[in-house]
Amino acid sequence: MSDQAERLRSRLKEKHGTKKARTVAVSSGKGGVGKSNFTINFALKLLQQDKKVLIIDMDIGMGNIDILLGVSPKYSFVDLFHHGHSIHDIIESGPENLSYIAGGSGLSDVFQLDQAKFKHFQSQFESILTSFDFILFDMGAGATNDSLNFISAADEAFVVTTPEPTSITDAYAMIKHLVRIDEQLPISILVNRSLKEKSDSSFKRLETVVDRFLMKQVTSLGVIPDDRSVLKSVNRQQPFVLAHPTCKASRAMTDVVDHYLSDYEVEPTFEEVPSFLSKLKRFVFERS
Ligand SMILES: Nc1ncnc2c1ncn2[C@@H]1O[C@H](COP(=O)(O)OP(=O)(O)OP(=O)(O)O)[C@@H](O)[C@H]1O
Ligand SMILES: [Mg+2]
Repeated sequence: MSDQAERLRSRLKEKHGTKKARTVAVSSGKGGVGKSNFTINFALKLLQQDKKVLIIDMDIGMGNIDILLGVSPKYSFVDLFHHGHSIHDIIESGPENLSYIAGGSGLSDVFQLDQAKFKHFQSQFESILTSFDFILFDMGAGATNDSLNFISAADEAFVVTTPEPTSITDAYAMIKHLVRIDEQLPISILVNRSLKEKSDSSFKRLETVVDRFLMKQVTSLGVIPDDRSVLKSVNRQQPFVLAHPTCKASRAMTDVVDHYLSDYEVEPTFEEVPSFLSKLKRFVFERS
């Protein structure tokens, strides 16, 4: 083997040996469209595919991942900043050993950090980046400057919408804000609560306007049907993929995850993109 080939091979090994978690922000324009339920059930399906997943509840003051998982967390995100805990202390475990960090007043805290506190956050966060394949941030609804900056710092954004015109309009507004901050941010759309499933045209409609007016290509994550089993699971505080593994929504979630992983595993890309932490740092210290 030539020296050059050898060097390339060892660089590849190095890159794969230190594989870092992919950070994904799950957002929406309109509230109540199913982000938290999607995040949890998507995470559980990824776990079933042997992926290591961490959910971080970023819904300021209104996080409810713990309620949906039927667990009572001891710690929340805020303990990382105010009580000197390590990130490993505040990672809790839900059904199927799903790792999650409960919401405190998380986001406002992240954006109000001084240099020393950000350094603590950075080192703590770095220490878990190699322990997980995916870190999913369940965002609150709507767009504040802080939440938009946070979402655009992630490696990719999911935008959840229902087929209702109001929800699609708000999803469009969210995408417009995100593209304004970072036109390169990969954005995927999930259509939830569809009454038509396979023939649902919501994605097509949204894709067309985003392409025409924002000149941005978005990807489809898939479609989850409107399913009473979801409501039943919420009431029983059990994720629907566990409580009703063969219901319509669970089967659709399996397709969504299979499709997502088949795209995700088309690697490697050698294009250097700035890391989540470096982008976040820029937003934290360049706020006006
Ligand atoms: N696929 C579905 N089929 C039927 N009902 C659903 C579905 N997805 C979500 N729902 C209903 O919508 C409600 C809100 O879902 P969820 O809490 O996940 O939304 P959210 O986007 O996280 O809300 P928020 O913006 O307040 O964070 C659920 O409690 C459930 O009743
Ligand atoms: Mg929610």
